[in-house]
Amino acid sequence: MNAGILGIGRYLPEKVVTNKDLEKMMDTSDEWIKTRTGIEARRLASDDVDTSHMAYAAASKAIENANIKAEEIDLILVATVTPDQPFPSVSCMIQEQLGAKKAAAMDISAACAGFMYGMITAQQFIQNNAYKYVLIVGVEKLSKITNWDDRNTAVLFGDGAGAVVMGPVSDGKGILSFELGADGTGGKYLYQDENDHIYMNGREVFKFAVRQMGESCVNVLEKAGLQKEDVDFLIPHQANYRIMEAARTRLELPLEKMSKTIHKYGNNSAASIPIALAEEVEAGKVKDNDLVIMVGFGGGLTWGAIALRWGK
Ligand code: UT7
Repeated sequence: MNAGILGIGRYLPEKVVTNKDLEKMMDTSDEWIKTRTGIEARRLASDDVDTSHMAYAAASKAIENANIKAEEIDLILVATVTPDQPFPSVSCMIQEQLGAKKAAAMDISAACAGFMYGMITAQQFIQNNAYKYVLIVGVEKLSKITNWDDRNTAVLFGDGAGAVVMGPVSDGKGILSFELGADGTGGKYLYQDENDHIYMNGREVFKFAVRQMGESCVNVLEKAGLQKEDVDFLIPHQANYRIMEAARTRLELPLEKMSKTIHKYGNNSAASIPIALAEEVEAGKVKDNDLVIMVGFGGGLTWGAIALRWGK
């Protein structure tokens, strides 16, 4: 049984914070942020909107888009490092809100690669015929763990959610190959510190990301028996435009085949890949039978990539 995407949705908070706004808050400049990262603005959730609210909003859209009922969902997986609280999990919270009564539910902690881990976990259940419909959400309210006094990290992140419903699809469609990985020795480069703030050694993460994104893309293509020329869309984790460009160059893809949301949303961690994919789908750019490569990396260190043939 092949596992593919049946429906997709996203949610972005309304509040837009531009680089110019940040100039008023800290010693930074629009010019520095734009040239070093590609970010021009980000969305920040208000105090009364927590991670579960954004997860619910994106999940509802994905379920509607998949044309199924919440009661039919067998499993809910929420990838996040910014849950409302350690437990109950965000997945249990939205299980109640959605009325997904028969669904099992758990959160996945793999930082920015979390959505890739979620999709691959879902694939195992669907492929084995254990479950039919799995809801996967990537969601972060990074603004609540951002150190607004640290310009090295504060300018990078944004809040948001993206979700997909996965289920059985016809032969040749859905997930064709994947790669997941972790390197705990690099945990020291990106973590939540004793004050609950994000700490990052940007240069080390940058070097790792440039190497890993390209490697993982090439590896999933090889595993699927496909060539670079076969790729229709690259959906990279949106952490830094220069890192995304390195992956695109490695795949020798023209600019228009790489999805880009970083300029308007910043780095949404686990939510960035499903948000970017949802925008391409909504714009009607991803078509039946297109080969989509998704690739992410993040704190852990973790990484993951998927080669997926779009369609049911
Ligand atoms: O999603 C998960 C993971 N995160 C990432 O993927 C991030 C990976 N890393 C990066 O994207 C980049 O390393 C950064 C964007 C974080 C930093 O870019 P960089 O080109 O590696 O800059 P840098 O850290 O080498 O800093 C260069 C200079 C420093 O000044 P000095 O020491 O050379 O005088 C920083 O203090 O830029 C300074 N700087 C800033 N200046 C203005 C750092 N942050 C800022 C800022 N505004 N916001």
